[in-house]
Amino acid sequence: MIQLKLNIDKVAGFISEQEIKLFQSEAKLQQKKVYQKSGAGNDFLGWVELPSEINEDFLNDLEQTASLIRKQSQIVVVVGIGGSYLGARAIIDALNSNFSALQDQGQSPFIIYAGQNIGEDYMAELLDLLNEKEYSVIVISKSGTTTEPAIAFRLLREHLERKYGETNAVNRIVAITDAQRGALKTLADEKGYKSYIIPDDVGGRYSVLTPVGLLPIAVAGFNIADFIQGARNMQVFLKQENNLYANPAALYAVVRNILYRKGKTTEILASYTPNLMYFVEWWKQLYGESEGKDNKGIFPAGVNLTTDLHSMGQYIQQGLRNIFETVIRVENPKNNLKIPFDNDNLDGLNFMSGKRLSYVNKMAEEGTMLAHIDGQVPNLEVILPHIDEKVLGELVYFFEMACAISGYILGVNPFDQPGVEAYKKNMFALLEKPGFEEQTIALKKRIS
Ligand code: PA5
Repeated sequence: MIQLKLNIDKVAGFISEQEIKLFQSEAKLQQKKVYQKSGAGNDFLGWVELPSEINEDFLNDLEQTASLIRKQSQIVVVVGIGGSYLGARAIIDALNSNFSALQDQGQSPFIIYAGQNIGEDYMAELLDLLNEKEYSVIVISKSGTTTEPAIAFRLLREHLERKYGETNAVNRIVAITDAQRGALKTLADEKGYKSYIIPDDVGGRYSVLTPVGLLPIAVAGFNIADFIQGARNMQVFLKQENNLYANPAALYAVVRNILYRKGKTTEILASYTPNLMYFVEWWKQLYGESEGKDNKGIFPAGVNLTTDLHSMGQYIQQGLRNIFETVIRVENPKNNLKIPFDNDNLDGLNFMSGKRLSYVNKMAEEGTMLAHIDGQVPNLEVILPHIDEKVLGELVYFFEMACAISGYILGVNPFDQPGVEAYKKNMFALLEKPGFEEQTIALKKRIS
């Protein structure tokens, strides 16, 4: 059984049951394409059966590597960008204390990310910090040629070799990359780094259940077996569930496509749980890169509430009416904290005293949802009983499958990202990379 629930009751005023029913055969057809690998991008469907294919030996190996890294490191720098970054960060942040950076983590090293930007100060400050700390590096790049992580890794490799010596530095680096190609693969083979492979048929944004996500999550001290089990539970459930209303992935895919066709071209993923901020970022990448192409696609936005009710809330309530919202509701937090009674009641909050913060948060969520619906913003809810590894495994697989079905309904290839090449070409030309001479001249004229 799965723990995640999808609630579409609150879209009732915007789409009819009849409209959903009309999509039943379309949803089945697109699901079939995913399972039978007969749709566009079918050489990137390795993630579909991935959870059930991960075996114990592989997990043990990952856990052993994680334990070696943990023993020797106060800090572990995870180098990667896009799909080689966001999944690990989403899960680690969701499971970690909000203040882990300032807490004694016991056995667990603190995870820092690099290679997800080219900020000079960011990298310089990181290298300064690492002068004082014992650390290791996990470098992740499927292509092995992505510029941002390649630059960060060059700097970190040089720093590690200076700090620990070339031979010892080797034991502080793990590379996760393609089986055959790329500069990172060449470097890892040449230097003898411990390496893991990203399967050919799993694209970056669908790779959190490969070593790309699993190794950093294990290093951070979380249970990857449970994470995979949750994903496996969702995999099995979705595959055998033919009824559209009982299959949350197919239903979510259908509802968002109906809303899109009615002019709701922006979807906002909203979370009331601060730990899920990077999960929202992971979701934005999954849906943005998968669906935004061929001049179509729902624009995926994200908000962290109630924080953003004091910024984006105004727009959501009264701005352009092309928005729908998907709310991730977490029913039970880990802690139990009540608002105290105050004799003076100068802040006027005694009417809430004795109430848990989660209750107040829930009322904010319910109130906001009703206000947004009244403001013509349809709301869907993804309901989780709590946050742990298993539930997050379910959530990841649910969104992946829904994204694939949704992309097929939309009529795009949800597994490629041709658009991300455009900026790279321009950047290389402007940096005068050999082979880009003509573009260099043309682009320099345009910016001079
Ligand atoms: O989802 C994707 O494919 C991208 O976001 C990539 O993950 C990202 O561009 C990083 O690529 P690579 O892992 O090849 O360095």
